Amino acid sequence: MTEPEIVTAIKNMSAKFTVKRDHITDYVLDHRQVSAYAAFYLPTNIPKLHFLLSKLPEDILEDFKNRPFIDMGAGPGTFSLGYKMLMNIGNHVEMIAVDTAQIMLDQATKLMNGFFPGSKFQTVRKYSEKKSNSILFFGHSINEMGIDKAQDQIMTIDPEYVMWIEPGTSEFFHDIKKLRTQILESYDVIYPCPGNAGCPSDWCHQVLRTSHDQSIERLSQMVSLDRKILPMVAHVYRKKQKAAVDNGPVTIRFMTETKFSFEYEVCMQNENGDNRNVVIEIQKKQLSKIDSKAFKNADVGERLNFEIEKQIQEKLRVKLKREE
Ligand SMILES: C[S@@+](CC[C@H](N)C(=O)[O-])C[C@H]1O[C@@H](n2cnc3c(N)ncnc32)[C@H](O)[C@@H]1O
Repeated sequence: MTEPEIVTAIKNMSAKFTVKRDHITDYVLDHRQVSAYAAFYLPTNIPKLHFLLSKLPEDILEDFKNRPFIDMGAGPGTFSLGYKMLMNIGNHVEMIAVDTAQIMLDQATKLMNGFFPGSKFQTVRKYSEKKSNSILFFGHSINEMGIDKAQDQIMTIDPEYVMWIEPGTSEFFHDIKKLRTQILESYDVIYPCPGNAGCPSDWCHQVLRTSHDQSIERLSQMVSLDRKILPMVAHVYRKKQKAAVDNGPVTIRFMTETKFSFEYEVCMQNENGDNRNVVIEIQKKQLSKIDSKAFKNADVGERLNFEIEKQIQEKLRVKLKREE
């Protein structure tokens, strides 16, 4: 496809992505739309997986390495490719891309075979087997299939891990919050929530600030879609273990920067183990110039390790703890 053709196709598609779920599915039936999707959304979605993996503890990442990876609603194989590349996993690891749209699966096979020949990669239009040792991943697909279907898939496959990266909109958060409650009966949360207790937020999402290859930056200008600031709802769960969950506070909103401080809204556990939203103040005098700059450009969804210095009305002034 020529660049103007890709631009027209992406504009059509993105208009559909912003309307209600029932209207978005026809783009997967057209070769040209699928190619345009792969040209634009695949490279700009993969950094979201990098973001999410970077928030997970080392032992979890280690535990991921040999597990089968099921990419549910894989599209052109966006996150299968991303996972293979970012985790640097061997060709022996089983990867299964599931999508109701055959054209998407054909595109996924072409890309995976092109970039990673010899991968143990299979594509299927439906997957309804139990695979308890697997990682079940959803990328912008719960948004299309709905949470009931997603929950059915989770119950049938019964994976060790469930992960998703979905749109960061407030409407969709409402659905995802319900799914979170449902799966916490059998799973522990690993990211982003501090613990398994109820979610206190009306809208919690993560925000990645990134940049792309020049050709993609150019495309995103031509289609008037900002892909440098990427909001998302990115979650990871693991089959319930005996130990209590305490993942630590996570930033959920940047509030303000003053001359002396940065203020964030964070989600953290209180002494009863409830998750709660609190505004914290991080004074700049405790930060080096480099750290201060990092805070200016920080993503939303970072884990923070701090101790509370004092409470000032509704705010907590905190002191960051350094990693040993
Ligand atoms: C927006 S695309 C996402 C593709 C890719 N995961 C990504 O993030 O770039 C959503 C995909 O979900 C697929 N899909 C929708 N409902 C599905 C279902 N019930 N089972 C499997 N795939 C489904 C669509 O065919 C489409 O390819």
